Amino acid sequence: MNREDFPMLANDIIYLDNSATSLKPKCVIDKMVDYYENYSANAHRGDYDISYKVDLEFEETRDLVANFINAKDKDEIIFTSGTTESLNMIATGFFANLVDENDEILITSSEHASNVLPWFRLENEFGCKVRYIPLDSSYHVTLDNLKKSVTPHTKIIALAQVTNVIGDVRPIKEICKFAHERNIFVVVDGAQSLPHMKVDVQDLDCDFLAFSAHKMYGPTGLGILYGKKELLENLEPINLGGGMNESFDTPQQILLKELPTRLEAGTPNIASVIAFKESIKYLEKLGMENISNREHYLRKYLIDKLLRIPHIDIINLEADSGIVTFNVSDVFSQDVAFYLNKYQICVRAGNHCAKILKNATKVTNTIRISLAFYNTESEIDTLVDLLSNKDKIIGEMF
Ligand code: ALA
Repeated sequence: MNREDFPMLANDIIYLDNSATSLKPKCVIDKMVDYYENYSANAHRGDYDISYKVDLEFEETRDLVANFINAKDKDEIIFTSGTTESLNMIATGFFANLVDENDEILITSSEHASNVLPWFRLENEFGCKVRYIPLDSSYHVTLDNLKKSVTPHTKIIALAQVTNVIGDVRPIKEICKFAHERNIFVVVDGAQSLPHMKVDVQDLDCDFLAFSAHKMYGPTGLGILYGKKELLENLEPINLGGGMNESFDTPQQILLKELPTRLEAGTPNIASVIAFKESIKYLEKLGMENISNREHYLRKYLIDKLLRIPHIDIINLEADSGIVTFNVSDVFSQDVAFYLNKYQICVRAGNHCAKILKNATKVTNTIRISLAFYNTESEIDTLVDLLSNKDKIIGEMF
């Protein structure tokens, strides 16, 4: 679907690592080049035409993103460097002031490092406790297990909407409802969900949501931090500097600007913000439902074929996303990735930054296929063909 929009696909590769980063359509690349060639001024600082154009387009992206996730107010959209920075800002800028040694933070063992380490830091610094919601036999979070894990001390539930190795889709709306009835905050890592499904923050009612442009067919180095306005008002800026202050004179006289500028110190990633507008328009034109349907179809196509290969052990058979994680029996996952690379097939192998997932799966390393709507049945056939002959894998992996 829409392969002709992606210049990278004209190269002789089979790209199956879309959870690491997605490819970029020409409209996004062109917009970046246009900015650098024709109006590469700074944002929010100039008094000349091209600088006004930058300001206008920069804020247009904010409007589009707000609309894309159905935020109530465009001031709830903060530009960051990525999901990682967004989650760190939430933990350090907001929750560090709220937690003490009586509080508990609920996560799972299948979270990405970016949704584990900022909470570990809070435990180390403030004595609150990170606890784990047990996963079921498919390594999914059930509402029931979540409910059983909540105690009167639970202050924060921090979960990926879709995890990056297991690819399970969490019932965030139901979790938010249950949590809010108990005054528990819900933080959502949307890095792996936003590119693949419709996300509506008002419908979910999550308190914070973090995601990255580069996984959404957009430029690298740009992330979004969404937060309910009344919460963002109380998020301490990690960075102080140009653009975000109204005035300062002495250390006692620092006046900060309003949202969203208050949380965007320094020159932002202007080119990426401006080009991200094209990604959002592109996704809306394709339709998130069409994208999701296509990826579900491709997943089923791949799984049906992999199930016929006896030496393939699929880890996340039950997942409901384009992420398929498996191992070739008795072969180290990275060796399989090297073997596939000989045929220009790009997959990711290893622990995928989910380093405590092994506590649940008892498997340290895996091979991960992450599909996007532009992948094809014929690409999957080529992959499956190469994986079906174990002797060939062993013979050619070095
Ligand atoms: N978080 C990205 C992944 O899962 C890099 O591959």
